[in-house]
Amino acid sequence: MSASKLCTEEEISNLVRAFYARVRQDEVLGPIFDAHIEDWDHHQHKLADFWSSILRCTGRFTGAPMPKHARLPGLNAELFRRWLALFRETTAAQPNKTMGEQARAAAERIAQSLWMGYQMSRNPAAVPTALADG
Ligand code: HEM
Repeated sequence: MSASKLCTEEEISNLVRAFYARVRQDEVLGPIFDAHIEDWDHHQHKLADFWSSILRCTGRFTGAPMPKHARLPGLNAELFRRWLALFRETTAAQPNKTMGEQARAAAERIAQSLWMGYQMSRNPAAVPTALADG
């Protein structure tokens, strides 16, 4: 299956909307996102571009996630694991299982890399730690 056949834009949009619906209801992550995101429609479109670039190789995303996350105060491994748990629940609930599985695997790799980058940018003298499984 070629990457562009993995899923449709509509499936990506549904994934993104379902994920942020969970995030916004989450008592820990919800307030963090609400404090930083003014325009949820814009954010969800940007994240649809992000996932479209990853899952459909469209190259549509032109953002810079590392510096955007590095400037968010107070992120920690537990928050990243919580984000991943919600993302896993969301992908598991999608009808397109192959897309769900690939999105989950990519999110886990990217979360690791954002967390490592976050630690190195905030505390360059310390040895960064990986996100534990689970
Ligand atoms: C604790 C976990 C996380 C929190 C609290 C968080 C929060 C946020 C917030 C508040 C923004 C908006 C920043 C801004 O526009 O200035 C953002 C942007 C973004 N996030 Fe996250 N995030 C988390 C983890 C992740 C992970 C694991 C991924 C990818 C798998 C991800 C992908 C993105 C992308 C692509 C953007 C847009 C970046 C851009 O505009 O260039 N985030 N995130």
